[in-house]
Order: sequence, then C-alpha cells, then structure tokens
Amino acid sequence: MTAIVTPPADAWYPVAIASDVRDRPLARRLLGRPLVVFRAGDRIGVLADRCPHRGFPLSDGRSGPDGVQCPYHGWRFGPDGRCIATPGASRPAGATAEAVSSVVRDGLVWASLAPTTPAPKALPKPFGEAGQDAFWWSLAASRAHWIDAIENLLDPAHPHFIHPGLVRSAARRRPVRVTVNQAEDWVEALYDEDNRTPALLPRLIEGLRTRSIGRFFPPATGQIAFDGPHGPRLTVTVVFTPESEDMVRPFAHFSTPRGMLPADLKRAVLKLVHVPILAQDRKALARQAEALRGQPPLPPVIGPLDVLRPAIDELVRGGRLKPGVRQHQLDL
Ligand code: FES
Ligand SMILES: [Fe+2]
Repeated sequence: MTAIVTPPADAWYPVAIASDVRDRPLARRLLGRPLVVFRAGDRIGVLADRCPHRGFPLSDGRSGPDGVQCPYHGWRFGPDGRCIATPGASRPAGATAEAVSSVVRDGLVWASLAPTTPAPKALPKPFGEAGQDAFWWSLAASRAHWIDAIENLLDPAHPHFIHPGLVRSAARRRPVRVTVNQAEDWVEALYDEDNRTPALLPRLIEGLRTRSIGRFFPPATGQIAFDGPHGPRLTVTVVFTPESEDMVRPFAHFSTPRGMLPADLKRAVLKLVHVPILAQDRKALARQAEALRGQPPLPPVIGPLDVLRPAIDELVRGGRLKPGVRQHQLDL
C-alpha cells in the first residue's frame, strides 16, 4: 500500500516499556531523532541522544541514581537535561542536554517531540479492567512504513498468503460477515463466522471463537481481539512508534481473562506461538518497504477487503469519521 500517510509529529508515542528501563540507558529513535531513555532513581528521563559537550551519544553511557553519565568526559545529566556534575571541576558545567517531553502511562514511557502536545490518551480496554492476566512484550524495531505496519496488524487479507495454515488458509476460505462500526474518533471491524477457522493458531489459543475484532485508535494504536461465547479470550493491543521513515517499533500488550492457567504459562505459550507469525510479518513488511524505497509514492488504492484502511487514513490525518455501521460479506 501507499506510504502517503505519515505519522503526526505532534503526538505521543511510546519509546520504551517502563520496566525495561533499568541500569543501562536505552538508545531509541522517534521520527528520525535519536533519543536516550534512562532511569534516575524512581524517575525516567528522555533526552536527545547527544551530549551537549561534544555530541557523544549518551546512550553509550551509564545510568546513576541522579541521571545519565556521558562516557566521553563523564559529565552527568539529570532527567531534565541539566548538567549536574563535571568530573574534575567543583561545579557542573553550565550546559543542558535537550530534554524531550515524556510521561509514564499504562506501563509505557511515552515521548513527544512537540512541546505543547496534550497529555496522551489512556489506552483502550482492557487497560484499567480487573481480572486480566496481561503483559507487555518488547519487540525489536522492524523495517516497515508506519502506516503499513498498522495496517498489517488489522488486515484480514494477508494471513492466507503470509501465514498460510497458521492464521488463515487460502485453500479453505469460509464466508465471514464483517461489520464495520465507525465512531467519530475510532473504528472497528467485527468478523463473525459460524465455524472455527481452519488454521493452527485459532485452534490452539482461541478455542471456540465466535468473533474476531480489529480496532484502530489514532494516532498509533491497533487492537485485535478474539471473543468466545463467554466474552473476550485474548486481546492484543499494539502501539506503533515511527522511529524513522521506514523503521517502526511496535509495543505489544497481551491480555487474557484470569482463569485456571497460570499467567506465566500463558505468557510463554502466547509468545511461542506468535514468534513465527511475527517473523513472517517482519519479513513481508521489510520487503514492502524495500520495494517502496526511492520510488514516487503509490496513489491510494482501496481493495474490497481493505475494510478499515480508509477510516485509518482519515483518522491519522486528524480527520473525524461519520459515525455509522457498514456490513460486508467476505470469504476469509
Ligand atoms: S562529550 Fe560528553 S562529556 Fe564530553
Ligand atoms: Fe500478519
């Protein structure tokens, strides 16, 4: 698909899972800008990854109780960017590393390059709901255009070809009723089918699924949910951070209702079954990004199975949707 839609610069994006920010600073990127994320006691700081002294990457340095230390001449910087110590001198140098707006919310460290961005919105349910076993999964950045990575999560048409037999099967398509619900500022597609999907993953972890759902919340959150006869069985929420024009870092959150199986076991099984699927998506997105590189942008094309893409494009551009419901009948 096209790369015409670009991520809004005046938005919050996650740069780390908060519990991953420990004794070593993390090198991250947001919209092309290198950032360092570090822990200073119980605070987390996000700075431009460039020491104001001679430009050394601060992410090569060390975290301490009061800030991050540059590995070149040892200057230390607090979470607000101020130099707090200059080894060999009795007073710190009057220099400041560029601080980036950041906030910890829903287990993530969010950053914004726009100084006046309003606070990030809470993530959609099941965040804040009791009775869930949940975990964040720190995934590697992958070569992909941001909007194409979002679409990939929510796209019902590629699994037959990219994950044959695992998620869907091209040889055994089944009729599926699709209902697209549009609110002003989010959209979802409900996929209802009468039979169990004839593929490995649905059989293994979804049990008697009756409905699967894809949702998009601007600017960067996709969600897929699998419901059984008694309600949600698995919800995967993914926030996509645009690192650069063709690199994306997804932050994936898995949530299942608390039940008989221990949370650790569910986490291990969920990760295990998703490893091959994620590898297949990574490879496909990288091939797509390579093919698009250096070419004029593709004009937007919406196929009959691209049921969410027009709404996603509109929401990412900052537009509002006309609330309503649409029905489709597809073979998936
Ligand atoms: S370059 Fe960082 S302390 Fe000199
Ligand atoms: Fe996929």
